[in-house]
Amino acid sequence: MCGIVGYLGNQSSKDILLDGLKELEYRGYDSAGITVLKDSNFSIYKSVGKLNNLVEKSKNLSVDGFSVGIGHTRWATHGKPTESNAHPHIGEATHIVHNGIIENYQELKKELIAKGYRFSSQTDTEVIVHLFEENLKSSKDTFSAFNKTIFQLDGAYALLLIKKDEPEKIYFAKEGSPLILGTNRETGEQFFASSDSPLIGHVAEVIYLQDGEFGYVDGKNINLFNGAGDEVEQVYKKLPENREIAQKDGYRFFMEKEIYEQSQVVSDTIMGRALDSSIEFDEIDPTIFDGINEIKLCACGTSYHTALASSYLFERISKTRVSVEFGSEFRYKDPLLTKDTLFVSISQSGETADTLASLKMAKNAGLKTLAICNVDNSSIVRLSDYSILTRAGVEKGVASTKAFATQMVVLYMLSLYVAQIRNNIEKERLQKELHTIREIPNTLTVTSKLHEKIKRLSKRYLHGHGFFFIGRDIFYPLALEGALKLKEISYLHSEGYPAGEMKHGPIALADPELFTIALLPQNILYEKTKSNIEELGARDSTICVISPKSFELADDFIRTSSHSHYMLEFFEMMVVVQLLSMEVAIRLQNDVDMPRNLAKSVTVE
Ligand code: M6R
Repeated sequence: MCGIVGYLGNQSSKDILLDGLKELEYRGYDSAGITVLKDSNFSIYKSVGKLNNLVEKSKNLSVDGFSVGIGHTRWATHGKPTESNAHPHIGEATHIVHNGIIENYQELKKELIAKGYRFSSQTDTEVIVHLFEENLKSSKDTFSAFNKTIFQLDGAYALLLIKKDEPEKIYFAKEGSPLILGTNRETGEQFFASSDSPLIGHVAEVIYLQDGEFGYVDGKNINLFNGAGDEVEQVYKKLPENREIAQKDGYRFFMEKEIYEQSQVVSDTIMGRALDSSIEFDEIDPTIFDGINEIKLCACGTSYHTALASSYLFERISKTRVSVEFGSEFRYKDPLLTKDTLFVSISQSGETADTLASLKMAKNAGLKTLAICNVDNSSIVRLSDYSILTRAGVEKGVASTKAFATQMVVLYMLSLYVAQIRNNIEKERLQKELHTIREIPNTLTVTSKLHEKIKRLSKRYLHGHGFFFIGRDIFYPLALEGALKLKEISYLHSEGYPAGEMKHGPIALADPELFTIALLPQNILYEKTKSNIEELGARDSTICVISPKSFELADDFIRTSSHSHYMLEFFEMMVVVQLLSMEVAIRLQNDVDMPRNLAKSVTVE
């Protein structure tokens, strides 16, 4: 995910910015840039790839005395990782860095182009700087223009802006993306960053800016306002002292942090795509679906589970035939490929060898190809005709969590998109689904009550001769994913199974040492799944039921919220199985982020 740093003071701002960006490297990025403003002169440097390239490019700049500066590491979302798309973005006399996504950037861009503004990047960010300069023409001062600009932006942002004729100020605003402000009261230096680690060692206390807050610093004062334009109290909090803890934002493991991030990254993934009355994907051409009779979804591991789960949605919602393939199987099965098939590869990394090889086969057979991927410019993205990026940010935990959530929401939206362009969905149904999509981030918020309950319960699931995660319909692939999560980090044997299939064999294993984790949603096949669970209970399997409805015969019970749509239940139960797997693994003292024998990106077959 992108990172921001800012500095105002007498030390070399170049060095402070580059050191700060180094601290944000762990978040992942594909380009970086800085601007230093000293005595009304801008010095700007941008580079693609590693930060060392930026260090090399800016090596001749030396900064003595007072200056201000802003810096950024970019994780591409709108536009490729190129120098022109890297931040800072520039206007006539203004430079800006931005994290987040501006949802209404296309409308704003159109208006600005009509007024004669020229754009040099494909990013959403560039509209902010031109919009600000346009507003400046009709505003009494810079602050009013800045204020007006941020009120015209829809979406998420943490942004820093500096202006040539005000070389002692940094303007800032925060909505939806993190931004932290630190002050050294003795020296008057001001520091900004999008997470704690760049600030450690410079300041002891910081202000964690709240959504809607904005203002400017000028070396003497912090001028901080809320969304209503009223000055607000500056609340300081102590910074953590340890950088490793800072990178994990206080969480015990990256996996835990990533589970907690899901609500935010799913919001980012939806933004600008699930609109008021339609689904839009600017990055694909709708004609890609012309003449298509089948969608073939191909992936490995967790990504395979999103493929399988979404196959239920594609057939149910968009009435389009779907087949699902493991990359490692597909490539050797001499598949029959016809040009009326759209080949969709799903991958977090975009580098998984088997998925990539399968994609190459599909391309060679002349199929149209689409990638659902988290990493722009990865091999799978580069090779595909079109790609839709999930916006999960860097996922460090080997056990995939937020990548699964964002893939799932993209595929859910894609199934609606296909239905929409094929006129296979009624207006009312589409509205209901859009409403559901907008609700998903709420279901992903982890409450301390839920987490504590799962932590306590996990101590009962540290042994046994096996786990069965069971579910029906789209909850079956979720059961597969729950079982994969548990086995890869706890090293306990676990399987995912369709609940209705247990009686065809696996029920022979049932005894008190067989743990069944049952997914029992209320909105789909409730009675049928309930009966399947009862059959296992009658054979004395130890059962943990996850459901919004009480289940008297369960040994353990995790209550989920009552939702009106099964997809909301799906996402809430996904968080439950992720947390349960993680808490079991933590109790077993395993390295949750780097489980034995596994690699994050499987680039060999
Ligand atoms: O990067 P990809 O999504 O293509 O990776 C596929 C699998 O290797 C990956 O999902 C793996 O199964 C994870 N460790 C699951 O947590």
